[in-house]
Amino acid sequence: MSEHLLEVSDLHVTMQRRGLPITPVDGVSLTLDRGEILGIAGESGSGKTLTLRSILGLLPKGGVAEGDLRFSNDGGRPAPFEPTEVHGHGISIIFQEPMTALNPTMRVGDHIAEGPRIHQGMSKADARTRAIELMRLVGIPSPERRARMWPHQLSGGLRQRVMIATALSTEPKLLLCDEPTTALDVSVQDQILGLLQELRGRLEMAIIFVSHDIAVLGELCDRLAIMYAGQIVEIGPADDVISQPNHPYTAALMASVPSFQGTSEELQGIPGHPPDPGAFASGCRFAPRCAFARDDCTQTTYELRPTSDDRATACIHPEVLAQP
Ligand SMILES: Nc1ncnc2c1ncn2[C@@H]1O[C@H](COP(=O)(O)OP(=O)(O)OP(=O)(O)O)[C@@H](O)[C@H]1O
Ligand SMILES: [Mg+2]
Repeated sequence: MSEHLLEVSDLHVTMQRRGLPITPVDGVSLTLDRGEILGIAGESGSGKTLTLRSILGLLPKGGVAEGDLRFSNDGGRPAPFEPTEVHGHGISIIFQEPMTALNPTMRVGDHIAEGPRIHQGMSKADARTRAIELMRLVGIPSPERRARMWPHQLSGGLRQRVMIATALSTEPKLLLCDEPTTALDVSVQDQILGLLQELRGRLEMAIIFVSHDIAVLGELCDRLAIMYAGQIVEIGPADDVISQPNHPYTAALMASVPSFQGTSEELQGIPGHPPDPGAFASGCRFAPRCAFARDDCTQTTYELRPTSDDRATACIHPEVLAQP
């Protein structure tokens, strides 16, 4: 039996920019096991959000996804699926901005109850009870009273919890999270991350978690994928990728975050800029910014190659990182 819950092969996303096509996601492949938490990190614009949205067919206007996507809701072999069939029925998504995802004309309790009513055929009364349970589960105080409120009456933190309760209301096998806690303060963020970990254990729910926060990713994720210029450049167990990068971009990204012990260190950005998705060159896309680049880096075909059982890197000279 396959352990895979999700298989993504050679995903390309084409967007339109001023009438010209660009390919901000350019050959992403990944698999996810049941109950596994995969993190995705990478600089702004690397294609993290579009990759996540492609899985549910939620690309911005003009976007087209191509590639082979397979999902298994019932424990069988992953099979191709229609995004509309799995959204709310096996796969849920949480976005960074809760306000845009909540219907302003719907009381928050009704919003959470909608999934169980439509997808699970619950009665109105049962769905309402379920919504209040879920609100309690995600740590919303006085859920009975708040269920009757409108989105604008809640704080940002509570709105994000409403979104999480909504996403969880259909007991998904896969939860897609796009920086779900970035807008929340640290203590609320910790509670939500704790909740996600608990649900992974209890519901065997897998998670893909996009974040810029390497410390959070290290804490939460089993595996970590690093994206650069529309491609995954490194993937492996989160602790290994963070502590012993096999790609110079990963190493530069790790060096650019404040130390995990300290809090107020200066951010050290990576010099230079990522390439424009309208003009990707051949060879390694990081080479122009890479401190270790050699002549052959821009000549070789680019692909993710295994370096061990559970790790892969796109760097053709990963040994440079081992040198003192
Ligand atoms: N609606 C859009 N129309 C045209 N191009 C877009 C659109 N959204 C994204 N893109 C292009 O795709 C690239 C990747 O976008 P994406 O939102 O996936 O990046 P990201 O990795 O999630 O970045 P961030 O960390 O800032 O959220 C962008 O840099 C931009 O070039
Ligand atoms: Mg994004």
